Amino acid sequence: MQTLISPSLLAADFMNLKADIDMVNNSDADWFHLDIMDGVFVPNISYGLPLVSQISKIAKKPLDVHLMIVDPDRYIEAFKKAGSDILTVHYEACTHLHRTVQNIHSHGMKAGVSLNPHTPISVLEDIIQDIDLVLLMSVNPGFGGQSFIENTYAKIEKLKALIAEKNTDVIIEIDGGVNLETGKKLVEAGADALVAGSFVFNSTNPTQTIAELKQL
Ligand code: DX5
Ligand code: ZN
Repeated sequence: MQTLISPSLLAADFMNLKADIDMVNNSDADWFHLDIMDGVFVPNISYGLPLVSQISKIAKKPLDVHLMIVDPDRYIEAFKKAGSDILTVHYEACTHLHRTVQNIHSHGMKAGVSLNPHTPISVLEDIIQDIDLVLLMSVNPGFGGQSFIENTYAKIEKLKALIAEKNTDVIIEIDGGVNLETGKKLVEAGADALVAGSFVFNSTNPTQTIAELKQL
């Protein structure tokens, strides 16, 4: 299977957002990665539901929504109504993660669970069979443009082993510091999907950059 590419709009030009969305629509990208930050779970605030709704009106590819917010259950229905297709919550932000995952599924979305760099794969042992995607953070969440944490490769190996042991089917997505160099090694380690923000939108030819990531 070819690598799934999910450009993160956090690095897009918000004054010309439509142009960047059209670029992604017409590129080899598979999803739109939308980063929702509440200033509590992470030390930054990004954008919220009104913008997600507007994006969903012109996006021609699924919305891969990454919630970096505390108590995400409060907003699951709202993110469905705003057009989300994949809804990913943080393990560290959910006291009743199983209930949260059920809630996401009951709203007809794919459910993802994200782990911070310090959170071990082992915490997924009793939830992996119930989810569609694991989003491994390869930077500390909150900001684009940070450098990649090398331990991520070893975490992918551990996650692959857990998925095989449980005989289940889960997409492994990696978020943070992805470029052609880290992306190649991530795909070799077993990543199915790559998020890329600054590497795509700061490049001189974003369409070409997406195509190059897709070829990894
Ligand atoms: C970080 C976000 C990422 C971010 C990635 O908290 O979850 O999705 O946009 O940005 P880059 O690709 O620049 O590391
Ligand atoms: Zn993200």
